[in-house]
Amino acid sequence: LLRSHGQNDLWQLAAALARRGIKPAVLESLFATLEAGTARAALVRIAASVEVANLLNEIESSTSRISDLVRAIKEYTYMDQGPVQNVDIVKSLETTLTILNHKLKHGVAVQRDYQRVPFLVNSFGSELNQVWTNLIDNAIDAMGGKGELRVRTYREDTCVVVEIGDNGPGISPEVKPHIFEPFFTTKGVGEGTGLGLDTVQRIVKKHRGNIQVNSKPGDTRFQVWLPLAEASA
Ligand SMILES: Nc1ncnc2c1ncn2[C@@H]1O[C@H](COP(=O)(O)OP(=O)(O)OP(=O)(O)O)[C@@H](O)[C@H]1O
Ligand SMILES: [Mg+2]
Repeated sequence: LLRSHGQNDLWQLAAALARRGIKPAVLESLFATLEAGTARAALVRIAASVEVANLLNEIESSTSRISDLVRAIKEYTYMDQGPVQNVDIVKSLETTLTILNHKLKHGVAVQRDYQRVPFLVNSFGSELNQVWTNLIDNAIDAMGGKGELRVRTYREDTCVVVEIGDNGPGISPEVKPHIFEPFFTTKGVGEGTGLGLDTVQRIVKKHRGNIQVNSKPGDTRFQVWLPLAEASA
């Protein structure tokens, strides 16, 4: 602020301060009660402290963003844990959403509908996160980065069901039979490898689960069933 005004245009400086929330009345009374030289010095000091306060705010919010992300990465990879854990499904979905925030924040509204579900015992937590990542990634791609992502959890008999839905154009009947095939993709070269859903299916099978898709234009849902009682494969 100071630099951009070269410290010499008092009124511009005052206007800039006003834009940053310093009341014009305060500045006016400053000019009224102090002689010009002192007022100038006072303004310069006010400008400097406003600048510092803004910087501090920024630093605070970016460090909390960074530490949120570091925590999410640790949780996402289950860094401090063994390969097999008892997985809190809702937490694992939230961790994945945090990791994918950079893709979501430009226009994807996330609708959450979480029924509380028991921990999934003896599961491969970081692999399950890959399942959510691939399904959410596909949903974001299908919606062209803008739309509604619906994340649900509920219990059905002895299973936890996770549903990832989007309001994109849907999967056409010609494409649908092939989506789980390795290397099948409708995306351009360099955009998709076609391995996402193949990986998803492998991991779901490893957990003795099941995956299904229902799709019509504006409403595509991938549902993953994971059995509660089964131990790891
Ligand atoms: N939510 C969805 N809406 C519409 N089409 C989808 C959706 N999810 C998957 N598909 C279709 O299934 C195809 C295969 O998906 P898959 O995740 O296996 O590969 P990919 O996304 O194309 O590439 P990769 O995941 O390897 O980057 C996609 O190319 C797309 O045509
Ligand atoms: Mg994919």
